[in-house]
Amino acid sequence: MTIHTVLVTGGAGFIGSNFIRHLLANYNYDIINLDKLTYAGNLENLADVAGDQRYRFVQGDIGDAEVVRELMPQADAVVSFAAESHVDRSIEDPGTFIQTDVYGTFVLLDAARRSDIERFLHISTDEVYGQSIGDQRFKEDDPFRPRSPYAASKAGGELQVHAFRETYDLPVVIARPANNIGPYQYPEKAVPLFTINAIEDEPLPVYGEGLQIRDRLYVDDHCKALDLLLHEGELGEAYNISAGNERTNIEVVKTILDILEKPTSLIRFVEDRLGHDERYSMEATKIRALGWSTDHDFDAAMEKTVNWYRDHREWWEPIRSGEYREYYERMYGRRLAEAKPYEEAG
Ligand code: NAD
Ligand code: TYD
Repeated sequence: MTIHTVLVTGGAGFIGSNFIRHLLANYNYDIINLDKLTYAGNLENLADVAGDQRYRFVQGDIGDAEVVRELMPQADAVVSFAAESHVDRSIEDPGTFIQTDVYGTFVLLDAARRSDIERFLHISTDEVYGQSIGDQRFKEDDPFRPRSPYAASKAGGELQVHAFRETYDLPVVIARPANNIGPYQYPEKAVPLFTINAIEDEPLPVYGEGLQIRDRLYVDDHCKALDLLLHEGELGEAYNISAGNERTNIEVVKTILDILEKPTSLIRFVEDRLGHDERYSMEATKIRALGWSTDHDFDAAMEKTVNWYRDHREWWEPIRSGEYREYYERMYGRRLAEAKPYEEAG
């Protein structure tokens, strides 16, 4: 396989922007970044590479077949991140998730099968398996049991990727990553939300009793895994990408407060998310067999992440004053007014 040009979709978001930076630092590829710039897309995430001759940004929707069909023949490989990505927003408005994560993925696949694409790396999620019960750790062949509108949309998108492999022999590889943390994550997600609130001495809204478990994968470790899958992943295969950094949400919150030297009195237990998945847990044996390992355990991943937000107020301040304010009020206003403080909840 010879790659000259990579079409990255959703490259102005959190993981996509980190991955574009990774590719530019490690390869001499040309990169086309196709991104709609929804509330989650932010060109500031790539300000440092915007002037690179090898990088080109195109504002557009992956569901727009005209734009996609024009770009696809210019690429040898596709790495597809573009998605509506937040579970809480999917509970408010599932339709946009189906439009992008299912239909948009189909438009990309359909253009790819008509083109000479050598590899189509699709970014799925651990959430397609649904929640793990007890000590259950999902393997790649386990069934899909998505429980949120977001997870169901991602599952619908991924199933089409498999279908295009079987039907048209499209050279696909699929990644199913755990919860990423690191620089440039939109602060609707738990870790940047808690971190920025703590920096600002605002309350930290923990859903339920904070006992749900997520595996915290540092975004650079994820990018290393995607690099490997882009170049060496077996066609038609899906790969779990889990770090083994599983912690409850309350442990995550306490770690953030410790790093920032802020008091636990900032913690609030608020009304739980509907259909909240208890735990995500996956085996990563398959990608480890390709030679992947992480460089960040839980403490290192949290330390780097929290310190980045502490040191990059200029990145998050403009975000917090825009659409995010309204979202935050809608999502947390009433919940916080009715919340229990940490000490009272015991
Ligand atoms: P993000 O929300 O930060 O970024 C998504 C990007 O996609 C944004 O730049 C947005 O503008 C763009 N986009 C949205 N709809 C689009 C459309 N119709 N056309 C073109 N661009 C569009 O998301 P992220 O956290 O970087 O996640 C990237 C991918 O990884 C997603 O597919 C997500 O489902 C998956 N994933 C994320 C995590 C995580 O922890 N963040 C974990 C597992 C899987
Ligand atoms: P999130 O970052 O939304 O990722 P996901 O739900 O896709 O795993 O949430 C991570 C965990 O943190 C999840 O169990 C929900 C919880 N959470 C809170 O307790 N409070 C919050 O304000 C948010 C956004 C999430």
